[in-house]
Amino acid sequence: MLRHVWFPVARVEDVAETGVFGANILGEQLVVYRVGAVSTVAGAYCPHRGMTLSLGQLTQDCLECPYHGWRFAPGTGACTAVPSLPDRPPPPRSDLRVYPSTEAYGHVWAALETPELDLPDLPEARDPDWRFAHGGPTDLTCGLRQITENFRDMSHFAFVHRVSMGPNVQQVVDPYRVEHGGTELRWALDVDLGGTALSGNSGLAGKQAFSFFVSVPMFATVRADFPGGGHSLVIQFATPISADGLRVRHFWSIGIDSAVPELHGADIAQMRQWEQEIFDEDFVILDKLRPIEAPLDSHSQAHTRSDKFSLEYRRAYLELVERYATRRPAA
Ligand code: FES
Ligand SMILES: [Fe+2]
Repeated sequence: MLRHVWFPVARVEDVAETGVFGANILGEQLVVYRVGAVSTVAGAYCPHRGMTLSLGQLTQDCLECPYHGWRFAPGTGACTAVPSLPDRPPPPRSDLRVYPSTEAYGHVWAALETPELDLPDLPEARDPDWRFAHGGPTDLTCGLRQITENFRDMSHFAFVHRVSMGPNVQQVVDPYRVEHGGTELRWALDVDLGGTALSGNSGLAGKQAFSFFVSVPMFATVRADFPGGGHSLVIQFATPISADGLRVRHFWSIGIDSAVPELHGADIAQMRQWEQEIFDEDFVILDKLRPIEAPLDSHSQAHTRSDKFSLEYRRAYLELVERYATRRPAA
């Protein structure tokens, strides 16, 4: 199933800066290269003698292998030049294997096989009143579901985020209802961050209305409505980078509307820094959870009312697995 999911492989800004970038999905090594506004995701090794193409460079608007200088076109991966044999067409089997890829939310996305589900459409990302910044990728020993559940979990704030959010975060999680439609889950919760969160920055630190969204298997957002006005949206997504899915590369973005700097005096760079501090606290926990991936059954762990989202998410994940299994019988 995961071979048919869009996964982030790199920030657009990183590929744009270097032109060529290494990536990985489920243990398959990839090269990402970008010419103009066209990102290409291809197999990592040169079809000639197997050189690692992420060490190559862009030459004449193509990816150039650092070993014998063969060049590969953007978009198609077609071999366009063999410098040792300039007057002949490239030999058979000289093109790169190209994977489905797209750009969204400041990242390059790829899938190992034809993707089954579209990426979610976030209206904030299309709104010119919003500014976005993108966090650096972090590799963690933990499964996709552990990462997704941690990002949804409200009852850990008062413990894991004591430093970034301060000591007065509300501990009791109010009742909430999870809406589950198809592959998407939504719910809303008000949380009092105790007034010291985010360096005590006025309304950002008080009672916030959070709206949660998950698109299985792992695309998740949380939108905060700040007291007195202004909104932020944090988007989290992750890619399994080992074949067993137990090593994951975590990516994220944050957006704010123009009311946040106007009313609360926090710009997108500060908001990104705060969010990074919060994620850094989560990463310590995520690396130490066992089992490494969250179980899909409901009986092997203990649950409370505040974990409702987690059970519903596991159910939605299982539905996707089952839906996939019935659509594509095992060969
Ligand atoms: S290994 Fe890439 S050109 Fe020879
Ligand atoms: Fe957290």
